[in-house]
Amino acid sequence: MPAIAVTAPGKIILFGEHAVVYGRPAIAAPVEQVRARVMVTAELRRRPGSVLIQAPDLGQQAYLDALPPTDPLGLAVRLVLEHLGLERPPACTLRISSTIPIASGLGSGAAISVALCQAFAEFLGVELPAETVSELAFGVDKIHHGTPSGIDNTVIAYAHPVFFIRDQLTQLLQPASQFTIVIADTGVRSPTAAAVGDLRKAWQADPSRYESLFDAAAEIAIQARHWIETGQIRRLGALMDENHALLCEMGVSSPELDRLVGAARLAGAWGAKLSGGGRGGNMIALAPEELTAAIAESLRHAGAVRTITTTIRAHKPPR
Ligand code: PMV
Repeated sequence: MPAIAVTAPGKIILFGEHAVVYGRPAIAAPVEQVRARVMVTAELRRRPGSVLIQAPDLGQQAYLDALPPTDPLGLAVRLVLEHLGLERPPACTLRISSTIPIASGLGSGAAISVALCQAFAEFLGVELPAETVSELAFGVDKIHHGTPSGIDNTVIAYAHPVFFIRDQLTQLLQPASQFTIVIADTGVRSPTAAAVGDLRKAWQADPSRYESLFDAAAEIAIQARHWIETGQIRRLGALMDENHALLCEMGVSSPELDRLVGAARLAGAWGAKLSGGGRGGNMIALAPEELTAAIAESLRHAGAVRTITTTIRAHKPPR
């Protein structure tokens, strides 16, 4: 049996992170340049039910039976088995690798879960729809992030820009024209759960202040959707700046993020903001086509440890 290989992209949040946890809409897009990859190989010499999971980048290698219930890799595999009603899969090895930086807001954990669920199901002869893959990956995320909105697993499983509201049907976004984003990494690792947890405490102490910040972020996401779907890309810049200001007020930015956001604007970006959980990780800048290289260089000069330039492609709306 030939090996099966499946990849899943990274992601950025264009608008609405954090507010999305509180039921407001957010917009996210896949980042194709960085990917998680899972290869499944049948192991005819091992006994049925023997599933070996190898993740050399994470320094992990273990048989499924030996993994604790909370291990995210083991959990993804178990959720697929449960979903398919199988107890003893054919013996196999699952090999996981990824070029998505971890704990930096690019969705590395969700991309690994998505690729793992898809690849393992395919190995078992089932092609799961994106909706199911997304749900299974969400099951893994819930164990690790407490109260995730579900935006990461959704945008990565669909591998398509989304307008996302938690607990609602996924809405695929159809950009009328393509646009370019420069992503820059502060190099500061910051677990999303900590930023989300601190914001929750602040919200509990002063709900009306934070609710109005979330409402303002919601309006931005709704307006941004309109500009994206009508191809008025340049106008997204001001919305990014406004969204970043709101995220600063929510207390999830950092001096490193603010410095990169300032550098991108100085270098000619139409707008810039942090992306994802914040406190570190990545920021994004909306770049005029002819300035992408200069903006990326300015960002590295201002301290970014890595930049990725990505294009959000235009999609024709379905008829
Ligand atoms: O995984 P990150 O760092 O991109 O953060 C996800 C976005 C948050 O809104 C901060 C959390 C969530 O669950 O939506």
